[in-house]
Amino acid sequence: MTESGYQPIPLNFDRLPEAEMLTRGRAKLESLARRRSVREFSHDPVPRELIEIAISAANTAPSGANRQPWHFVAINDAEKKAEIRNGAEKEEKEFYQGGRAGDAWLEALAHLGTDWEKPFLETAPWLVVVFKEIAARAPDGSKSTNYYVSESVGIACGLFIAAVHEMGLATLTHTPQPMRFLSRILERPENERPYILFPVGYPDPKCQVPQIGKKSLPEVSSWFE
Ligand SMILES: Cc1cc2nc3c(=O)[nH]c(=O)nc-3n(C[C@H](O)[C@H](O)[C@H](O)COP(=O)(O)O)c2cc1C
Repeated sequence: MTESGYQPIPLNFDRLPEAEMLTRGRAKLESLARRRSVREFSHDPVPRELIEIAISAANTAPSGANRQPWHFVAINDAEKKAEIRNGAEKEEKEFYQGGRAGDAWLEALAHLGTDWEKPFLETAPWLVVVFKEIAARAPDGSKSTNYYVSESVGIACGLFIAAVHEMGLATLTHTPQPMRFLSRILERPENERPYILFPVGYPDPKCQVPQIGKKSLPEVSSWFE
């Protein structure tokens, strides 16, 4: 080991034949393209191990200086879920009906059919609340800086969503604003901020989703070849 602590090891990497790369890539794209945000969940229970796998997948994410500035709280306790629904609906009522959103934002959301009521926060068997660590805290209480916190946690959340989807479950990226009520209910320390709330479960068999499209590849990319 060098003085800096840099201790390299050989990379574990399998180089694949190009045909297999295409097959794998297309299959992954086809699967990801079928993911939808779900707002109507079934009550059916989901084994804890599947949630552990999704969180572990998120935890493999790259992060600024490898600080992993995230914490995941998984909840399937009915009382806690009711408390969270109550807190979220209070904020969302203010957002949708109390003027907090403003006309332009409400107009942008209209085609999604969302409103202040969030029954899925109780019907989904699991809620996973992701916190971002704005500073790292050592066991002795001392703090140190984390780097690229929002970027890092956003990437981890993307991997979480992909893992949930690949396992045959559904989720929603939910961001009731402001979310500080989650820190209180889930007893998180002051160096963390709520980032995203993911209900996770099976879609209700009668679940409907808004009819939306995605931009095409030429619309979202430009190339220099
Ligand atoms: C950062 C972020 C915040 C979001 N917040 C909410 C939210 O609070 N409530 C909600 O119903 N959907 C929320 N969504 C979901 C989007 O509305 C949804 O991803 C979008 O309409 C595209 O639909 P799709 O996920 O089915 O492709 C959020 C998505 C993102 C990425």
